Amino acid sequence: MTDGSPKVRLKPDSESASLAMRDAAHLWHPYTQMLTRPEPLPIVRGEGIYLFGEDGRRFLDGTSSWWVNIHGHSHPKLNAALAAQARELEHVIFANCTHRPGVELAERLVEVLPRGLTRIFYSDNGSTAVEVAIKMASQYWSNQGQSRRTFITLHHAYHGDTVGAMSASEASVFTKPFAPMLFDVTRAHAPYCYRCPMGLERSSCRIDCLGTEVGPAAPSPEAWGATLGAQLERHGGDVAAVLVEPMLQGAGGMIVWPREFLAGVRRLCDAHGVLMIADEVLTGFGRTGRLFACEHAEVTPDIMCMSKAVTGGYLPLGVTAATERIYDAFLSEDRTRTFFHGHSFTGNPLACALAVASLDLIQETGAVEKVQQIESWLRRGLEPLASHRAVGDVRIIGGVGIVELVSDKVTKSAGGYLDDVGPTLTKAFLDRGLLLRPLGNIVYAMPPYVITEHETDWLTTQIREVIDGALGE
Ligand SMILES: Cc1ncc(COP(=O)(O)O)c(C=O)c1O
Repeated sequence: MTDGSPKVRLKPDSESASLAMRDAAHLWHPYTQMLTRPEPLPIVRGEGIYLFGEDGRRFLDGTSSWWVNIHGHSHPKLNAALAAQARELEHVIFANCTHRPGVELAERLVEVLPRGLTRIFYSDNGSTAVEVAIKMASQYWSNQGQSRRTFITLHHAYHGDTVGAMSASEASVFTKPFAPMLFDVTRAHAPYCYRCPMGLERSSCRIDCLGTEVGPAAPSPEAWGATLGAQLERHGGDVAAVLVEPMLQGAGGMIVWPREFLAGVRRLCDAHGVLMIADEVLTGFGRTGRLFACEHAEVTPDIMCMSKAVTGGYLPLGVTAATERIYDAFLSEDRTRTFFHGHSFTGNPLACALAVASLDLIQETGAVEKVQQIESWLRRGLEPLASHRAVGDVRIIGGVGIVELVSDKVTKSAGGYLDDVGPTLTKAFLDRGLLLRPLGNIVYAMPPYVITEHETDWLTTQIREVIDGALGE
């Protein structure tokens, strides 16, 4: 069937056709409008923080290849761990069997996770780690004869692209086409201090957006009603869990939290007897300057989700950690109380072996301390942008530097995720040898931890100059 649309269907007729042409013939890329996209960048090799194109150009990987890479590309120790494991055992069913890398990784994680997270459940990626957490929380209650239907999540949340993870995420351009198939969640304010949902200033507020103080500072009953505290008052006995991205909400706008908010989430969950789930898919393994973001407020969630950097960025692996209290609720002579969840590649030995090797490297290289250094370099390079006419806010946490662009500094108006400024800046960065992918008007850098001071200075200089070139006077 032909619909007469101007689709580009290049048919490469020889081995020498470029990767981009062969790609255009058959591939469909994630989060990409295939009709209007620019040609994809053919990458043939990676080394350290750099990626090398088919045409020989070199690019600094400024987003750690979608937030996964921490030790640099093609790391000799990770390469060796992968090869050694492949020679021994590449995969086996994890329902009936167990294996050394799977056990070793669980032991190593329990040593470093917030105290009390002692049970490890594997899956395939960040979204499945979240799906597992949601199902685990739901069945935790039903195994005890309670039907708790409500999940409370935060505005601006992003938890992944599977149906449960999308339901828990903010209703946005990402989820709109799928709205009819999503389940309802209750949403509470996020501590987005630059755009405070309570209309307050961080310098003088008491984290009123949490809703633990009885509302005098709330600008309206609606603003008060959407605080986590008020939502828990309203729905408490029906709430299965509160699900949050601790300290840094990622794809929903790179929002950095005051640590007091995180501490307050734990306090409120305890006060109302509901479970707390921390989605550390982005923040885990050092990204925020602590091994896990929950450490910023010294909290232990009941369930924690991890993925992305867990394997150093080599292979997909999801991890959902739980306390013994959660686990115990599934132990029964009655087999209907089993946790009926699994994937073909659950506990893949190659991924587990890489994750163990990556944990070794994190310790050997002092990676968490290194991220704290990167934070100071990012501050030095990006904070001067705060006075730029097109910049509303500059936020830094650990190895993540964020610049929020606005079209008007007073009204803070901005184009959001679909703002054309995103693709425009992406191209300008690429022309300078820097691979970044702004979330519309949110420009951010999140390089692998092996970046040097000099390279960080180069990176922040490019960001300053490109923003100034595109959006200066
Ligand atoms: C906080 C958070 N949770 C979940 C996910 C989903 O992870 P994945 O893309 O591996 O499915 C992401 C991905 O960006 C994320 O940032």
